[in-house]
Amino acid sequence: MEIKKTVAESRIEQVYQVRPEHLNGAGRLFGGKLMEWIDELAGLVGIRHAQRDVITASVDNLKFIRGAYLKDLIVLIGRVTFVGKTSMEVRVDTYIESIDGIRKPINRAYLTLVAVDEEGNPVEVPGLIIETESERAEWEAGIKRREMRKQRRAEGF
Ligand SMILES: CC(C)(COP(=O)(O)OP(=O)(O)OC[C@H]1O[C@@H](n2cnc3c(N)ncnc32)[C@H](O)[C@@H]1OP(=O)(O)O)[C@@H](O)C(=O)NCCC(=O)NCCS
Repeated sequence: MEIKKTVAESRIEQVYQVRPEHLNGAGRLFGGKLMEWIDELAGLVGIRHAQRDVITASVDNLKFIRGAYLKDLIVLIGRVTFVGKTSMEVRVDTYIESIDGIRKPINRAYLTLVAVDEEGNPVEVPGLIIETESERAEWEAGIKRREMRKQRRAEGF
């Protein structure tokens, strides 16, 4: 596709505060709620990049690093790390932000979103303009992750 967009153009930062209805029986943020927030944010990043509807094809490398508790501020940052023809890889980093603004990572996930037309058929997405060294490193790692996903699909794993 001729059109290309930068990572910054679709990057999204979202903040939530953990409320009682977000907790599990052990008094921690319910993992499924965090997964919902991650999936929603990744979808919005994908829509911004593709300027179309998107669907989640896969979620991988979803690592829970530490728990979160009532009233914690949860910051999610989503950005495109790699694009194929119709798919986009979006990385979502989640942090707890303390009152003095210090962020501690609690989760990192990579999701693959596919841009679709009105019938749900995959359609081409804009290319990605790489502007920084860390974006370049993510892109190169994204190529490897894509190959691993393909292999897992081929093996039915
Ligand atoms: C995602 C989906 C459209 C792919 O359809 P498909 O017939 O496999 O389409 P294609 O083979 O043309 O693949 C389209 C792209 O998706 C990628 N893809 C397909 N399955 C994938 C998977 N499991 N993980 C990661 N990427 C995947 C392909 O690599 C391809 O990327 P590219 O165009 O950048 O090379 C289809 O599997 C689907 O509709 N799944 C259900 C999605 C859904 O309901 N999600 C939950 C709600 S949002």
